[in-house]
Amino acid sequence: MSKIEFPAGFHWGAATASYQIEGGWKADGKGESVWDRFSHTDGKVQHGHTGDVACDHYNRFREDVALMKELNLTSYRFSLGWPRIQPLGKGAVNQKGLDFYSSLVDELLAADIRPFVTLYHWDLPQALEDDGGWPERDLAGRFSDYAEIVGHALGDRVKHWMIFNEPKVFTVMGYLIGNHAPGRQDRGDFLRATHTVNRATGRAFAALKSIDESFEVSSAFNMSPCDPQTDSAEDAAATKRWDGFVNRWFIEPALLGRYPDIFPSGFPAEDMGIEDGDFEEMKAPLDFVGINLYNRSIVKAAHDGNLDAMDAGPGRDGPHTDFGWEVWPDALHDQIMSVTRDYDAPIIEITENGCAYGEAPDAEGVVSDSRRIDFYRGYLKAVARAIKAGANVRGYHAWSLMDNFEWAEGYGQRFGLVWCDFETLERTPKASARWYAEVAANNGFEE
Ligand code: FCB
Repeated sequence: MSKIEFPAGFHWGAATASYQIEGGWKADGKGESVWDRFSHTDGKVQHGHTGDVACDHYNRFREDVALMKELNLTSYRFSLGWPRIQPLGKGAVNQKGLDFYSSLVDELLAADIRPFVTLYHWDLPQALEDDGGWPERDLAGRFSDYAEIVGHALGDRVKHWMIFNEPKVFTVMGYLIGNHAPGRQDRGDFLRATHTVNRATGRAFAALKSIDESFEVSSAFNMSPCDPQTDSAEDAAATKRWDGFVNRWFIEPALLGRYPDIFPSGFPAEDMGIEDGDFEEMKAPLDFVGINLYNRSIVKAAHDGNLDAMDAGPGRDGPHTDFGWEVWPDALHDQIMSVTRDYDAPIIEITENGCAYGEAPDAEGVVSDSRRIDFYRGYLKAVARAIKAGANVRGYHAWSLMDNFEWAEGYGQRFGLVWCDFETLERTPKASARWYAEVAANNGFEE
């Protein structure tokens, strides 16, 4: 047996997001978010589930941090709910909301766990959506004001930040497909939303750095290695365009100050609302690259596919999780290696990777989720292989610490290392959590 080892000081983490775990949707002055509004609208979320209570982390965060400590985690990636901090997304700050995050940070530091903070994991203040949402250019300024507020409030203790979680997902699903909040379906809105988000990245990056130059700032990009469905020239060209969108549309404006060339009919500058100076504004020399990875893409040319002239779907050759997502560990290795090649070997953090399996507690209260252990084993080996090949990966965050509100799926898909009983709110570490705790303690595992 050989040992799969990780570099000294490697961060063993887990990730969550505010709307998915906190609950307390109206507690202590919190404003309404687009996800509150969306989940309260009939027919939007499976079974009418909402995040009103979720895992009640808002009231149980001390217990949750103790659990993280028990699991030997050294990094915790969580997000700040913007409407908890600024109920209307502009103007007055809700001190109690900031106090909550401040206490969470203190609790983490006391447990020797790095607070790894996402500014935005999709819960836009509803008031800002009422003003037009992400397609509105003004939102970039509102967002950087918010970044400044949290940078000042937490920056004496938080040093590692992610600006956005998966900008591609919330712009596509929220403004193009409409199956996520705010549920709009308009190509122009979607294109403009992506551009505001890219400008907001540049501005928030500058705002945080002006508070403390030593902050390490990036975003958590969801990425997916792309392969053509056939070896035709059309599929190859479509694959290149899809890769440009899925893997580069949000990172290259920051790192390179330009958009990738993905539209066969030319760059839609007007539809995107590009103005003079925008490309300069988008630039941000990110300190690391956060990768969320759940799938690979198989791409073919198509006339009415998603975006222009391309159609992408997930791989179908590997085993599937209970959510139907393919298990394909090489995807993580391959994506880490492309980022390493394309952007000059940056520091990489795996900000999310995980799987939904439904195993429940048995009569003794034990959750035997061996499929999840196999999943993590496979993906962690892929990370170790990439590190051996020269990638500078500094940490790994399992999605998720505990079962939670899985967006349009409600509580139907369980991604947690820890079981959450949504009636009693009791937490039970699954077998995978015990396994992961050992990996963290040993900085690796026997193959
Ligand atoms: C990602 C999201 C995260 C979670 C996982 C399963 O796209 O960032 O909030 O829902 O998928």
